[in-house]
Formats: sequence, structure tokens, C-alpha cells
Amino acid sequence: MSKKLIAPSILAADFGNLQRDVEMINNSNADWFHLDVMDGVFVPNISFGMPIIKSIASHATKTLDAHLMIVDPDRYIKTFAKLGVNYLTVHYEACTHLHRTLQAIKAEGMKAGVALNPHTNVSLLEDTIKDIDLVCIMSVNPGFGGQSFIENTYSKVEKLKEIITKNNASTIIQIDGGVTNKNAKQLVEAGADVLVAGSYVFRSENPTETIQGLKNLLG
Ligand code: DX5
Ligand code: ZN
Repeated sequence: MSKKLIAPSILAADFGNLQRDVEMINNSNADWFHLDVMDGVFVPNISFGMPIIKSIASHATKTLDAHLMIVDPDRYIKTFAKLGVNYLTVHYEACTHLHRTLQAIKAEGMKAGVALNPHTNVSLLEDTIKDIDLVCIMSVNPGFGGQSFIENTYSKVEKLKEIITKNNASTIIQIDGGVTNKNAKQLVEAGADVLVAGSYVFRSENPTETIQGLKNLLG
């Protein structure tokens, strides 16, 4: 993918003003909505589920990118498809039969993503890379927004990019956690295609301008 994308994370939005924040993203230069679903089991936090995603989907005019931090994600694939999710990302660590899960996501007409925790080596995706539309490299431990970026991420992106190129795959690389104007350019130079940004966008004084600032850095 040559065009680089920004996906603001709704986890950092103001849930009391959810429609306002969704419209802000609609009217900004952001590309996707990143939706973090946490079950309190796979990660030590619970975020939001289907009713909230339904509300977001009814106002959002851009790609819906759902990041499932849940155990046994297969149970909900059809539900997320019905909600209008475009990219459905499951965690490598939560899938016993990853290949089967990826096929099930695609059978519902969605793009299939795989997220890797910071301790999970990218080489574990060598045998499935051709079946994966998106790899989400976690640059923090999943579960919470507002954590600091793990520096080892750059070398993971480079290694993953090599695997993608070697296999002639069309997989795109997403980075999730601690993304700011300090690391965005270097991430893209290492091979990233989509940057998720939560607190950096929503805790800034002018989120629309912050999104534009990130886009400008990506060239
Ligand atoms: C963390 C989530 C992230 C989070 C990113 O578990 O997957 O998407 O919202 O938030 P920031 O950008 O604040 O690290
Ligand atoms: Zn996420």
C-alpha cells in the first residue's frame, strides 16, 4: 500500500459525546475508525461491545477497523460482519486454529487481520502471511490506551516487511499503541502502512489538526 493511513482509536474518545467525536473523524483527514473490543479475559480491561459499535457504525462514513482483544473470537465473526465492520483483527495468541479463523472472517466478506502482542515473534506468521490482509503489531501491551511506545517495534516492522515481500503477499502493516508525532515517520520508514492513534489524537487540544499533523508526517 503506498498511501499511508491514520486510524484514530475510539477507545480514547469521549463516550458522553460519541456522535460528536465520530463526526469529528468523519470530517477530518483520518482514514479509518479503530474499534478496540476488550473482554476482561484476554486483556485485563473491558471496553465496549456490539451496541456501541452499532451506534458508531450508524454515524461513521469511513472504514471500520475492529481490533478484538477477546478469547475465542470465532464466536462473534458473523455478528461483527452484520454490524458493518470492514477489517476484523483477531489476536494470534487467542487463536488455536488461526488459519480457520482467517477463512471464516473472509467468508463473511471482511478483511482478515492478525494482531501480535509485543512478545510474539513476527516469524510465526510466515506460514499464513498470504492469507492475512493486515498484521497489527502491538507497540504496547494490549488493554489500555495512553501507554508508552515500545522501541523494539521498529525492528519487528522491518522483519515483517521482509516476510511480506519474500512471499509476494499484499498484507498491510498496522501499528497500535503509543503512536505520536515522535515515532510516526520512523514507523512508516520501517514499513508501516496504518498508524492507530488514541490518546495522542483525543487528548490534544485540536484533534482534527493533530490528525492532519500526523498525515503530513507520513508524506
Ligand atoms: C490498546 C489498544 C489501542 C489503544 C491505543 O490495547 O489496542 O488501540 O486504543 O491507544 P494509544 O494510542 O493511546 O496508545
Ligand atoms: Zn487497538
